[in-house]
Amino acid sequence: NENIYILGIESSCDDTSAAILCNDTILSNVVADQKIHAEYGGVVPELASRAHQQNIVPVVHQAIKKAGISKRQLNAIAFTSGPGLMGSLLVGTSFAKSLALGLNIPLIDVNHMQAHILAHFIEEDGHNKPPFPFLALTISGGHTQIVKVKNYFDMEVLGETIDDAVGEAYDKSGKLLGLGYPAGPEIDKRAQIGNPKAFKFTKPKVDGLNFSFSGLKTAILYFVQRETKANPDFIKKNLNDICASIQYTIVGILMDKLKQAVKQTGITHIAIGGGVSANSGIREALKSAEQKHGWKTYIPKFEYTTDNAAMIAIVGYLKYLEKDFSDFDVMAKARLKI
Ligand code: KG4
Ligand code: ZN
Repeated sequence: NENIYILGIESSCDDTSAAILCNDTILSNVVADQKIHAEYGGVVPELASRAHQQNIVPVVHQAIKKAGISKRQLNAIAFTSGPGLMGSLLVGTSFAKSLALGLNIPLIDVNHMQAHILAHFIEEDGHNKPPFPFLALTISGGHTQIVKVKNYFDMEVLGETIDDAVGEAYDKSGKLLGLGYPAGPEIDKRAQIGNPKAFKFTKPKVDGLNFSFSGLKTAILYFVQRETKANPDFIKKNLNDICASIQYTIVGILMDKLKQAVKQTGITHIAIGGGVSANSGIREALKSAEQKHGWKTYIPKFEYTTDNAAMIAIVGYLKYLEKDFSDFDVMAKARLKI
């Protein structure tokens, strides 16, 4: 059996990433993140596409070098065609097309949301692959989705956010509390030493398995305005409790919908992905659901769960096995659906 080498390229948001995979094993996964957005408190699309343009050649070179192969050994190039920021997607799309043409090898377009889910099929010591069918919960700064995964490329979105993503809810809440960007990790850290019942924020009522987080952000804004008017030191004095209460509310929203999805489908294998899967509150809640309800949960290695090209490369490999190649007139699509 001959080895298959795939180059994966990811540029949908603010991270430029390239990875080399040999069959289903990762040889390298290089990520250049863009610090520039921190001072704006969120990703600035125009700055993101410029930074991709600067990063893409060195990042791809480094991925090939780290993998210890020559680019002549590549069997195909997989790239993110959407969803994401158009200007960012175009950089990766154009680069992938040019390199595939130059090397005269197949091009494979990859859906970023499918890739977050299929990252679970990267071969990795200590990581069990979820059996079909399973439920995928993808939670990050850009996405919040519950997907029923019947097979590698047979997926059905059961629910998604109708406004902000869960990571966005963390980051925007953090901004109101005067925390840096991204605020998720700091809120999580403080939440672990605060009282989750200190303050109460109501959970939104949203139909079916959809999510909404913009109401929470507004509730926190009014809460902060009201309390600091009475006591200017309110946030500083209660920061850990406020963070714990926000986290308690967010984890509650996620777990309510997950439980509803399990009830609706009868599926108890649950695969988590996206940057927010690092959250200690959601991890604890999942662990206790394993014990209480007999669920089985799967969380990939952290570097394969935030935006990365390894997950793009594994989808490239799965499509390569099916000879599912792209035409060279394939276009980037900002709103690509699963
Ligand atoms: O997947 P990711 O690196 O990038 C995308 O947004 O696609 O996710 C980043 C998001 C940010 O919103 C960040 O605040 C959040 O994940 N995040 C966390 C934690 N670690 C990262 N949110 C809550 N708790 C954490 N421990
Ligand atoms: Zn993502």
